[in-house]
Amino acid sequence: MSAAETRFPVTPEAIAEAAALIRRGGLVAFPTETVYGLGADATSDAAVAAVFAVKDRPRFNPLIVHVSDTDAAEALAAFDDRARFLAGKFWPGPLTLVLPRRADSGLSLLVSAGLDTVAIRVPAHSLAQALLTAANRPIAAPSANPSGAVSPTTAAHVAEALGDRVAMILDGGRCRVGVESTVVDLTGGSPVLLRPGGLATEAITRFLGPLAPAGGGAPRSPGMLARHYAPGLPLRLCAYTAQPGEALLAFGPGADDADLNLSRDGDVHEAAANLFAMLRTLDRPEFSAIAVMPVPDRGLGQAINDRLRRAAARSEADDDWNDDRGPAAPCVLPGIEDDEDQA
Ligand code: TXA
Ligand code: MG
Repeated sequence: MSAAETRFPVTPEAIAEAAALIRRGGLVAFPTETVYGLGADATSDAAVAAVFAVKDRPRFNPLIVHVSDTDAAEALAAFDDRARFLAGKFWPGPLTLVLPRRADSGLSLLVSAGLDTVAIRVPAHSLAQALLTAANRPIAAPSANPSGAVSPTTAAHVAEALGDRVAMILDGGRCRVGVESTVVDLTGGSPVLLRPGGLATEAITRFLGPLAPAGGGAPRSPGMLARHYAPGLPLRLCAYTAQPGEALLAFGPGADDADLNLSRDGDVHEAAANLFAMLRTLDRPEFSAIAVMPVPDRGLGQAINDRLRRAAARSEADDDWNDDRGPAAPCVLPGIEDDEDQA
């Protein structure tokens, strides 16, 4: 792929082109007041899978969904009085709210990494707003940097690190805030500060009272903990065939008797896009377990395997996407060649 042009100054034509790219499932880097985001259609599993691939994330951690205003946000998530209050005070702006995701949100399951919550924010930057309006879609956007690198605050940062992997970069100059948004989780009884950021926490505590630190032993009822989706059925990994009673979730060509196939072509992007929806589909009482065929541990396959191993382990301690201990070794794959140019 050739290096993406950065567009500066950004014309209405460039915005229209960027919006069309988003609607076609492409990736567009765009400025927000905090940092540059790597944007994709948040309703498309394939587009969101591409975000994880470009960032080289070894894990499906959930992404922030950007919308143009509070009404659009309320169509995606359940707002309580606290959420409405904070949204009214601080949106548009550098505040992200984690809220229960609406069943009819239409959002990709991958965008919240299988959680039943979603992180939402209304950015204040005029170009971000213009893009959201023109695309007329919620836009998933993590910071536009490779996993592990610092967040970009100029278009040049994005071009250096990801220029050959995005379709377009909208250049809005330097980001005014320069650090990521403050992330507050409102899915439990007491609000939790998941990430300090561009909105001072004092501004929030003035209205909500103290914010519990993430993982700080805050008195949340266990049922309120946002867990990743794990199937009710046990998972049996590294399987090639189903045993009696099991559903078979295949990967790759030739598995004609499988119940579902993550990707007949053996494409890890397609598999990532299908993963959560297919696990949910097979999670039915007529099966005793879900047998999952091996997925090559390269590119997005690493994140798929990470998620599968965590779902198979079924312990809460294994279910933290910020925990990088890296669980069990991947399946040994005798039959599958590493034929993708991942070098
Ligand atoms: O300023 C920002 O927030 C930038 C710009 C582009 O908007 N975006 C950003 O996204 O920093 P990202 O993906 O790099 O960070 C998302 C943060 C992570 O800490 C993630 O764990 C948390 O939000 N997060 C997202 N969805 C969540 C959820 N459902 N539950 C808990 N935390 C969530
Ligand atoms: Mg980031």
